[in-house]
Amino acid sequence: MAIILDMEIINGFSCDNISLWSAVGKRAVMGEEDKDEISTRRVFTRGAFDYLPDGDRYLSRAPEPQFGFAVIGCGNMGQEHIRNTILEGRARVTGVYDPAPKSVQFAQRSAAKMGVELPVYEDVGEILQDTAVDAVFICSPNFTHLPVLRELAGCGKAIFIEKPIATTVADAVEVCSLLDAHNALTRIGLQYRYKAVYQEAIAEVLQQQSIGRVHSVSMVEHRFPFLDKVDQWNKFNKFTGGTLIEKCCHYFDLLNLFAGSRPRRVFANGAQAVNFKSFEYRGEGADGLDQASVLIEYENGVQGNFNLCMFVPGSVEELTVCGDRGRLFASESARLGEETRNQVDVWLGDHGTSRSVQPHYAPHIHRAGHHGSTFYEHVAFVDDLLSGSNSGPSGEDALWSVVTGAAAQASIEQGQPVEVKQFMDKELCRT
Ligand SMILES: NC(=O)c1ccc[n+]([C@@H]2O[C@H](COP(=O)([O-])OP(=O)(O)OC[C@H]3O[C@@H](n4cnc5c(N)ncnc54)[C@H](O)[C@@H]3O)[C@@H](O)[C@H]2O)c1
Repeated sequence: MAIILDMEIINGFSCDNISLWSAVGKRAVMGEEDKDEISTRRVFTRGAFDYLPDGDRYLSRAPEPQFGFAVIGCGNMGQEHIRNTILEGRARVTGVYDPAPKSVQFAQRSAAKMGVELPVYEDVGEILQDTAVDAVFICSPNFTHLPVLRELAGCGKAIFIEKPIATTVADAVEVCSLLDAHNALTRIGLQYRYKAVYQEAIAEVLQQQSIGRVHSVSMVEHRFPFLDKVDQWNKFNKFTGGTLIEKCCHYFDLLNLFAGSRPRRVFANGAQAVNFKSFEYRGEGADGLDQASVLIEYENGVQGNFNLCMFVPGSVEELTVCGDRGRLFASESARLGEETRNQVDVWLGDHGTSRSVQPHYAPHIHRAGHHGSTFYEHVAFVDDLLSGSNSGPSGEDALWSVVTGAAAQASIEQGQPVEVKQFMDKELCRT
């Protein structure tokens, strides 16, 4: 039995009051994992149905949190994780640690609007001591990921670490081996895999193999400039690792995933063309590039390319995958102030049924951050905590997303193609 997730059920109610919680359902139509009875639990948050006696609540009964999550770094992304933890419902936030008082106060105010009080930890050591913590989310800036992880390594609690795992190849290798050796579940915040259009693309290209054997993969990201951050860390390569690591590790992760291989040779050009030319912070100018073109030759012969522009009034992402039976095109775009438009086209010619779909998530899930992908990243993380499995993305996936970006940046600096194996050897020798 296939069940179509019925988002219409929330019609007539304010979406802000209602949370439709689903343990399944990254694609619009569920298939083989269906049980005889509806496996999707529809739960309405307490706000709309609080007049009901507890014993009368079934659909409106929120899931009992089974796990405790502590959040390190509660700026923009830490708050997105707090929001999605509350929305997803099977875990609660035990507290936050952040050296910036304004970040903590803002996170507390935002959580209070969702009816949740946020305790504050004095330091990472206090999180380690707290037996209510099952998983620790590392959401501090890129350059802090490795030192924070060193404090947590082997602590027995699950670790979720934001992308990019580190700012250099050598540090990324160390992060990867600490995660490998860790004695609990680990996860990387490469949640673009959970965007509606890429879930559809993964199902078509990798699971159903509709377009046959993949030969080329290309991606475009055109978007607005980097936003303000605490201490403006994202304007400086020494803190981010460089734009192609900081932001674009998401796209290199997707390119590597669809190519089904590792990069052998990378050739790129790029520049700081427009953004932050006269920006200065504590006497230093910004140095991140804002446009780039990257060509990737994969070990299995797949051709990859990526194009970045960061001075666009809105955002658009495009993925094109060509195989020997057809072509898939996926795009997610939003002009400033407009609704997001999602599109996936599969052209199969005379190999089968061509189709066009507009996959999307429920509005309140979409609004919870990164177009709903963070919510489903949480669903997968909690599912893995419950089942003991590890659905990824893994430390190794994250390492290769950093390596691809670092190789592209090295190619821009050197003005020539970079052989990835030699590049990695050199980077690791430098430490
Ligand atoms: N997965 C995604 O799509 C996505 C999106 C945005 C940011 N991120 C990643 O999340 C991380 C945080 O980015 P952000 O946008 O929230 O930045 P931010 O500047 O908004 O917030 C970072 C917070 O970390 C705090 N912090 C700094 N050093 C710390 C430390 N040693 N320990 C604890 N807290 C510390 C800062 O005070 C700040 O409040 C970065 O690694 C970034 O790349 C991921």
